[in-house]
Amino acid sequence: MTHLVAPSILSADFANLLPACELINNSKADYYHIDVMDGVFVPNISFGLPVIKAIKKHATKTFDVHLMIVEPDKYIKDFKAAGADILTVHYEACPHLHRTIQAIKAEGMKAGVALNPHTPINLLEDIIQDIDLVCLMSVNPGFGGQSFIENTYDKIKALKALITKKNSSALIEIDGGVSDKNAAELVACGADVLVAGSYVFGSKNPETTIEGLKSLNF
Ligand code: DX5
Ligand code: ZN
Repeated sequence: MTHLVAPSILSADFANLLPACELINNSKADYYHIDVMDGVFVPNISFGLPVIKAIKKHATKTFDVHLMIVEPDKYIKDFKAAGADILTVHYEACPHLHRTIQAIKAEGMKAGVALNPHTPINLLEDIIQDIDLVCLMSVNPGFGGQSFIENTYDKIKALKALITKKNSSALIEIDGGVSDKNAAELVACGADVLVAGSYVFGSKNPETTIEGLKSLNF
């Protein structure tokens, strides 16, 4: 499978999201990556359900919603109604992760699990077969524009080995500090989905930047 590219709208202009939608629709991007932060699980607040609903009206691609919130179970149905296709919860926020994953799937969404940089891969040993996507945080969640944590390469390899061993079909997504400096190596290590926020929206021509992430030609 060729890898997928998911621009994060966290780095788009919140006062003017329509051009960002059109840009993503017309680009080689595969997903919209949508970061929801509650100010409790992470030390920042981004946006919530009404904004996602508004974007959905203009979007033509898969909604990959990354919940950085406590008690995500409370809002699973709401995120489905807002337009989520993939709903990712944090391992660290879910004491009953198996139940949460089943609840996401029961709503007809793909279930993702995100791991903070300090959370070891082997904690997914008994749940990996139920997961559609694992989001490896390559920065501490909460903000765009942070530096990539190098240990991520080893985590991708360990996760790939676990996925193969358990015959899981989970995709490996990398989130945080992705750019031309690391994209090719991430894919070589086994990444299936590259999330990029500031690298895309901070560039002169975001559409070309997305194309570069897709082709790995920089
Ligand atoms: C960070 C978010 C990321 C963020 C990535 O907490 O989960 O999705 O948008 O931004 P960059 O690509 O700028 O690191
Ligand atoms: Zn994210």
